[in-house]
Amino acid sequence: MHALEWQNNSVTFIDQTKLPEKEVYITTTNYQVIIEAIKSLKIRGAPLIGIAAGYGVALACLELLRNNSQTYLMDLKTIIDEFKNTRPTAVNLFWALRRMEKFLNSQDTLESITENIIKEAIQIHFEDKLMCDQIGKIGNQLIPEEASILTHCNTGSLATGGEGTALSIIKYAHKSGKKINVFVDETRPLMQGARLTTWELIQAGIKSTLITDSTAAFLMQQKKVDLVVTGADRITVKGFAANKIGTYNLAVLANFHNLPFYIAVPSSSIDPEISEPEQIIIEERDPDEVRKIMDKYISPQNVNVFNPSFDITPPELINGIITEEKIYRFPYQAEFLRLKSIR
Ligand code: MRU
Repeated sequence: MHALEWQNNSVTFIDQTKLPEKEVYITTTNYQVIIEAIKSLKIRGAPLIGIAAGYGVALACLELLRNNSQTYLMDLKTIIDEFKNTRPTAVNLFWALRRMEKFLNSQDTLESITENIIKEAIQIHFEDKLMCDQIGKIGNQLIPEEASILTHCNTGSLATGGEGTALSIIKYAHKSGKKINVFVDETRPLMQGARLTTWELIQAGIKSTLITDSTAAFLMQQKKVDLVVTGADRITVKGFAANKIGTYNLAVLANFHNLPFYIAVPSSSIDPEISEPEQIIIEERDPDEVRKIMDKYISPQNVNVFNPSFDITPPELINGIITEEKIYRFPYQAEFLRLKSIR
């Protein structure tokens, strides 16, 4: 199962808003379809957003060539900026777009710029798949032979170019013969856990149990959880980690119950440019996402709503950040600064 594919100069992706009820695939050569899909969460998950933006820019280049644009480079810059304005929190988006932007200064022909941008987008996708495999392998070292793992949101094949981040670890542990049970937070308001993670885990033949977000504390108190692992959309140099709203709750709870709390990310989710939590832009989404369930209002239609899509977990609550390179341990700053210098 692939969340997104590049074939014959077009992109095919699964519409994640329709899952698990319907498996709807959309094929497009129109970059605006990708922009809309990222905004509406048809395509979602930090690494996949970056991959999709790369392919979206590639589609835009092909369109500009087809239309014989006399202002190709200027138009391309505007389109890259449009992609930057889709979602603010996942740093993978900006990381991928920076890789696209470097071609704007090229002296090559427009045909070879287009060709190189397509190659770069495919390379970003390929690298992410490899990083997912490595995260799974490295993270598996932290998983006991028998483990009850709590996770949040969706961090699997639907969120990445490969097997996932936190879910890649869970899949790797399962494949290596460990006895795994996964508690899946439903992840209000858009239910990525209930709709997507359970769907992926059932397909992978991994035992999973769906819980409401507010059940986590009771489960831990009952000693039914051994560890927590989630993904992240952006990690600062000091190790502050932005991830789906509700992740911070889990970190606090795990700390209180003396349980390990891990975050798994490709290194493209580490933002070498910022240190402090205040520097992370937290996306706030449509109030109706909270007022409604399954398109039906469950609250007065005019009630005031606060709907941040992400929260920020402080580094001292994270027992390890698992990347494709290694497991980083608190304090993170020195090693993440080293990453900055080699990038
Ligand atoms: O709003 P979403 O569904 O894009 O949020 C996704 C998450 O918060 C994931 O946990 C994160 O992107 C890591 S995915 C490997």
